[in-house]
Amino acid sequence: MFHRKLAVIALAALAAAPALALDAEQAEKATETRQSVLEVVGWNMGPLGAMARGLVPYDAEIVARNAQRIAWMSSMIPDAFRADTRPHDVATEALPAIWENYARFEELAANTQASAERLAEVAASGDEAATKQAIGALVDDCRACHNDFRLDD
Ligand code: HEC
Repeated sequence: MFHRKLAVIALAALAAAPALALDAEQAEKATETRQSVLEVVGWNMGPLGAMARGLVPYDAEIVARNAQRIAWMSSMIPDAFRADTRPHDVATEALPAIWENYARFEELAANTQASAERLAEVAASGDEAATKQAIGALVDDCRACHNDFRLDD
């Protein structure tokens, strides 16, 4: 129990101090964690994209709820990528550019959070056309980061 606590403290310190090197197991865990964060982002985004394209019925409440979740999850993106896994052979689509230009990466995450917050507000206002535009703006923010920092599919 004591050792477990120490391990948790050590991990928290790692998250706060990017200069500390990771061992292979920590690098794998860090990779899984950041992918999980983005998987949850993507899971919440799915229905919104489908609504914007008219593939499923529009529901302002779901848009507002999911946009809030995306905003909250986006606030975790910079933390989730702080562990620099470049020296490790991990299964990842994260490009080395992230750790070469971390300030820009953080900025794009903050833009995404702001667009998601704005989307939640617009959806709550009841204006469907404006909400669909705001969904498009949010998707543009996802793409802006993927273009520079995620391996092409
Ligand atoms: C600041 C940069 C950034 C932003 C903003 C961003 N992503 Fe990503 N995303 C990444 C990177 C980098 C990866 C690859 C992570 C890896 O493989 O380690 C990724 C991976 C993903 C994945 C795959 C996760 C998995 O299972 O491996 C999904 C889904 C995803 N992003 C969806 C989104 C959506 C939707 C948005 C916008 C709401 C978004 N992302 C915004 C950088 C970003």
